[in-house]
Amino acid sequence: MTAANELRLGVNIDHVATVRNARGGAVPDPVRAAKLAEEAGADGITAHLREDRRHMVDADIEALTEALSVPLNFEMAATDEMQAIALRYKPHAVCIVPERREERTTEGGLEVAREENRLAHFIAPLADAGCRVSIFIAADQRQIEAAARIGASVVELHTGAYCDAHADWRAGGPDAEARLQERDEELARITEMASYAHSLGLEVHAGHGLTYDCVSPIAALPEVRELNIGHFLIGEAIFVGLEPSIKEMRRIMDAARA
Ligand code: PXP
Repeated sequence: MTAANELRLGVNIDHVATVRNARGGAVPDPVRAAKLAEEAGADGITAHLREDRRHMVDADIEALTEALSVPLNFEMAATDEMQAIALRYKPHAVCIVPERREERTTEGGLEVAREENRLAHFIAPLADAGCRVSIFIAADQRQIEAAARIGASVVELHTGAYCDAHADWRAGGPDAEARLQERDEELARITEMASYAHSLGLEVHAGHGLTYDCVSPIAALPEVRELNIGHFLIGEAIFVGLEPSIKEMRRIMDAARA
């Protein structure tokens, strides 16, 4: 793959910590998973330190910072606490995500347009510290323009609605045709907005909900330079092991790119 065609895979290891925390002990160790992911070909490791520490905890971030050879992408809410932690560890990248305590996962993109001023001030010290700043947003023109204005270098486009519609279509049932149409509309929106974000000079990433079955059309978008994938890969690893799970995703991404 040439540099211009490069598509990086960031592996999100949060849910190794979810399993660990279910028993409150030390296993399974997310750092061990991160090292295995590296060996399997992950180009980066993504970890989300949530306000409620429901999966990753502060010690995991410290241990990852010391252990990793590939870049760490630190997902965080735009809070003072998280900014201080990011400035302490200075990860290669930070990805600013919305966060609500009651949600099961990051449910929507960040509302950048409404909070432009605050977010511009929030990300400036992170960029000054050398972190590549990414903003997790819906594939929406207003949000992309706002992300560019506040000085982000990357936007990560939320693929959750596309993936959910795809899964519902696959599951069949009375709404299957409507969900297929929604999937195609979402894909068209992501395609158009990836191109638009790129035209504004933003690097484009994508993620949330991606599986072997739905990753190819997203991986094929030429402007997309990185995918961040977690839940499916960790789930699949239960059946086949982490290394085969990641290698298969890498193979499908490369095939789509070719
Ligand atoms: N990208 C971002 C910004 C996320 O918040 C998440 C979920 O933590 C992911 C990617 C990965 O999503 P999934 O675990 O559904 O693959």
